[in-house]
Amino acid sequence: MDTVLSINNLSKHYGKIKALDGLNLEVNRGNVFGILGPNGSGKTTTLGMILDVINPTNGSFSWFGKKSSTATRKKIGAILEHPIFYPYLTGVQNLMVVCDIKEVPYSRVEEVLQQVGLGERKDSKFKTYSLGMKQRLSIASALLCDPDVMILDEPTNGLDPQGIAEIRELIIEIANSGKTIIIASHLLDEVQKVCTHFCVLQRGKLIHNGLVEDVGKGSISVEVKADAENLQEVLESAKMHTQLKRELDKYILTMENGYGAADLNKYLFDNGITAKHLVVKTKSLEKQFLEILAGQEGGQK
Ligand SMILES: Nc1ncnc2c1ncn2[C@@H]1O[C@H](COP(=O)(O)OP(=O)(O)OP(=O)(O)O)[C@@H](O)[C@H]1O
Ligand SMILES: [Mg+2]
Repeated sequence: MDTVLSINNLSKHYGKIKALDGLNLEVNRGNVFGILGPNGSGKTTTLGMILDVINPTNGSFSWFGKKSSTATRKKIGAILEHPIFYPYLTGVQNLMVVCDIKEVPYSRVEEVLQQVGLGERKDSKFKTYSLGMKQRLSIASALLCDPDVMILDEPTNGLDPQGIAEIRELIIEIANSGKTIIIASHLLDEVQKVCTHFCVLQRGKLIHNGLVEDVGKGSISVEVKADAENLQEVLESAKMHTQLKRELDKYILTMENGYGAADLNKYLFDNGITAKHLVVKTKSLEKQFLEILAGQEGGQK
């Protein structure tokens, strides 16, 4: 596997606040990697450290197997905070300023403006741009030096639904062009629509790391008790599970994707069985993450 970013025990403490606490993470070439977490969970702090704008308290990271340097930074395009452009300059003129700073030929300006869909408005002043257009200009600016890696911090914040959809589409196009992308987001939905891999941060700690396609999978498990001789038979005939186990006086079912406790309860009832105990033991990852993102961490796991 071609490792683009490797993070090793990275921490940032501000006095007592552990903004990031011992993060280990790998991002491979071609990944669209989401860093998901609620407000204050350490996403921006992480991006700031891997971009060398925040000094770590502990730990290290490497880009392309090397220590971070001017050479590695040239391969990375980033949009950390709201970018500062000149309001009275046009899109083209603003990007020419960036070309001067980054020592990129002006010929790139037209290319990246087309790529982000700003071709028609390239000669309008920045101050006349909508929020979504401003965001696209900052993506264009990050694309100027044709980086291998793009880093985006909450790229759809503040946009309306159409703007959100357009920026997501653009990110997917950029990923399809072969770039590795790292996105911080507090929206599970965004990560599910855009990313291939993701991790979840909660109060500076990594609590999950995996494939996006696994999030929706039916890992719900349900415990059932009922006074019925034929309970096992009926549970089996329901065909809603991938696994059925007996434990003392109860059965534990790992549910098939898409089936929940209510479906099982109805099936039992329709077959003349009243469950006296029916409890969801494991929630789907999706549900767990939504609770974390909504700040309801005390939920049953
Ligand atoms: N310069 C700083 N001084 C003190 N505390 C800080 C500083 N920067 C960040 N923090 C704290 O570190 C924690 C993580 O902040 P961070 O900005 O990384 O979170 P985030 O996940 O990006 O949140 P958001 O979704 O709101 O952007 C928060 O508790 C924050 O208050
Ligand atoms: Mg942030």
